[in-house]
Amino acid sequence: MMVALQGPCSLVLFLAAFLPPPQHAQDPAMVHYIYQRFQVLEQGLEKCTQTTRAYIQEFQEFSKNISIMLGRCQTHTSEYKSAVDNLALRVERAQREIDYLEYLREADICIESEEKTLAEKVLQEAEEEKKIRTLLNASCDNMLMSIKSLKIVKKIMDPDGSWMKDAGGNSAKVYILIGSRNNTVWEFANLRAFMEDSTKSGPRKLILPLSWQGTGQVVYKGFLFFHNQGTSNEIIKYNLQKKTVEDRMLLPGGAGRAPIYQHSLSTYIDLAVDEHGLWAIHSGPGIQGHLVLTKIEPDTLGVEHSWDTPCRNQDAEASFLLCGVLYVVYSSGGQGPHRVTCVYDPLGTVREEHLPNLFFPRRPRSHSMIHYNPRDKQLYAWNEGNQIIYKLQTKKRLPLK
Ligand SMILES: *[C@@H]1O[C@H](CO)[C@@H](O)[C@H](O)[C@H]1NC(C)=O
Ligand SMILES: *[C@@H]1O[C@H](CO)[C@@H](O)[C@H](O)[C@H]1NC(C)=O
Ligand SMILES: *[C@@H]1O[C@H](CO)[C@@H](O)[C@H](O)[C@H]1NC(C)=O
Repeated sequence: MMVALQGPCSLVLFLAAFLPPPQHAQDPAMVHYIYQRFQVLEQGLEKCTQTTRAYIQEFQEFSKNISIMLGRCQTHTSEYKSAVDNLALRVERAQREIDYLEYLREADICIESEEKTLAEKVLQEAEEEKKIRTLLNASCDNMLMSIKSLKIVKKIMDPDGSWMKDAGGNSAKVYILIGSRNNTVWEFANLRAFMEDSTKSGPRKLILPLSWQGTGQVVYKGFLFFHNQGTSNEIIKYNLQKKTVEDRMLLPGGAGRAPIYQHSLSTYIDLAVDEHGLWAIHSGPGIQGHLVLTKIEPDTLGVEHSWDTPCRNQDAEASFLLCGVLYVVYSSGGQGPHRVTCVYDPLGTVREEHLPNLFFPRRPRSHSMIHYNPRDKQLYAWNEGNQIIYKLQTKKRLPLK
């Protein structure tokens, strides 16, 4: 609009620049001509003034419109402002109310969850108890009374080693693992073949893909279970038939941190089999001291349950399980007499005071291993390079309350 307002006025100035020179002023025709031109110019100016006026009017109207609109805008703005202020106030109040409700809700949850955890704990304990009783059910109710006799089956000079029959299957085979770290397993057809060691029916030699650590190995249902050397807590399940590693597991709960028995320092994890299945005896998560007992599911290699036992590592040399009860053999300073002085029964029915006479036949040195075989119900032991069988006397234990 500003451009349009300028337009006619600059046209007038432009035309004035073309006026004829003054020497022709006396000429009447010229005067008439000039007069006419001036009239035209005047008319133009008049028009220009009118247009300008119209423009100015329009502009005034426009600015009035704008100021009206601005005025309205201002009212709206102040309305909005108070509305916004009001809203902020309400939001603040709502926030406070929400905070309070939140606080009430949390308090409720706290009370609820405390009640819940207590109830859950009681329930969990009851379930644990039930699970343990199912694991260690009344299908087996013997307890050890005494070591009845000793039979030295063979002498292999190595001071450390383990030997065994399959504690789960019905095979007559005898396995021998010489030394506390190796990968060679000897398999004899039966006990007689092992005793005679005749070259005719020589043993089968199995080279494991991994070496074992210590003397805690067991053979159970066709698998050799052993502590994998170089690892602190890995158990290998080796298929003796297929000669392959079937499975492996990491034993939890601080296993493998320390030797389990003071007088058998190469053994960090001792495995055992009894009427209830496969077990591991190992160190706990704290400083070395007490033995931890863990029940393992042999098919899945899952941990079924773990117990901290009161049995100490000091002066211990070996341990075994019979009917769900752990018997730990001790000897003062590693020499005889060898005696079970700590017993741990997860169900609490067998205690030391029930076992007055658990001495082993006198041996000058401590045992490298002692394992129970639930099939023939005798102990297989390694002592000073001798492979020994201990026959046992057992009796029925107190019924479970
Ligand atoms: C001013 O407002 C009136 C009424 O709203 C409208 O008719 C008119 O065209 C407006 N004028 C201008 C220049 O905006
Ligand atoms: C296993 O024992 C034999 C005989 O003592 C020894 O020669 C061999 O090096 C040992 N193997 C391993 C892997 O320790
Ligand atoms: C007891 O447990 C063994 C496995 O440990 C199982 O074979 C047997 O069926 C169970 N017996 C009862 C009565 O629960």
